Amino acid sequence: MIKSLQDTTTLHNGVKMPMFGLGVWQVEDGSTVIHSVKSAIKAGYRAIDTAAAYKNETGVGQAIKESGIPREELFITTKVWNSDQGYESTLAAFDASMEKLGLDYIDLYLIHWPTKGKYKDTWRAIEKLYKDGKAKAIGVCNFHQHHLEDLLADAEIVPMVNQIELHPLLTQKELIDYCRQKDIKVEAYSPLGSGKVLDHPDIARIAEIHGKSVAQVILRWDLQNGIIVIPKSTKESRIIENSDVFDFELSDEEMKRIDQCNKNERVGADPDNFNF
Ligand code: A2P
Repeated sequence: MIKSLQDTTTLHNGVKMPMFGLGVWQVEDGSTVIHSVKSAIKAGYRAIDTAAAYKNETGVGQAIKESGIPREELFITTKVWNSDQGYESTLAAFDASMEKLGLDYIDLYLIHWPTKGKYKDTWRAIEKLYKDGKAKAIGVCNFHQHHLEDLLADAEIVPMVNQIELHPLLTQKELIDYCRQKDIKVEAYSPLGSGKVLDHPDIARIAEIHGKSVAQVILRWDLQNGIIVIPKSTKESRIIENSDVFDFELSDEEMKRIDQCNKNERVGADPDNFNF
């Protein structure tokens, strides 16, 4: 079990990835994202998850530079957006992201969504970026099992990570099992259901027992399940609160109770039915 904010899990290619990071979806570029990222790094976070589509890579890059932490101690993730999918366009999108971030390599490069008819060519480009050493690890987001099966039928390299929507209302047990079989690490986005799971009465009861917040209990549940987690907040106090999850442990019963909150209910789009 991980014991601190900087503990890592080892991906199937040997790269070490922090189990805990800051997500910056829907965080405005400029001073807002710079403040979030710098607050997180100051609090001990070492992983930052952005994407070309978030339109804040420039601010993330600036915050990284201003943080004073050596590049190699940070773990930065970004993603190729749907309209850039395809072989050549992915290579170009990667260069554009690196330029904005001010980096010469990325720790993890991901396909953002399984765009039909395109994600296999995208993956070939990402495999090239990996082989060229420009991306230390590569993976996908929002892939259902059938998307992964289809990709793996032609892939040379098995994705190291699948980043999916995962929270107590969408526990994703079958997909987690499948990813484990393939040695693909699962990373949870919207771990707090974009804030919508924070008033769940059953989790509130567990939180009260431990003297913790609902957010902390949910993030602890992820870590005890072996799930990499990237909660988003723009507020320094919450960024600190979310990372303060290493001084308590959920019992097996409490873990099960949270599992039982599952309703297969999404706050975001379904990867089988998205129109962007
Ligand atoms: P804010 O950025 O204003 O702090 P998710 O990571 O599931 O997408 O959830 C992010 C949402 O939850 C954001 O709206 C964020 O708001 C809010 N949030 C993040 N951490 C906490 C917390 N510890 N307590 C309450 N709300 C939180």
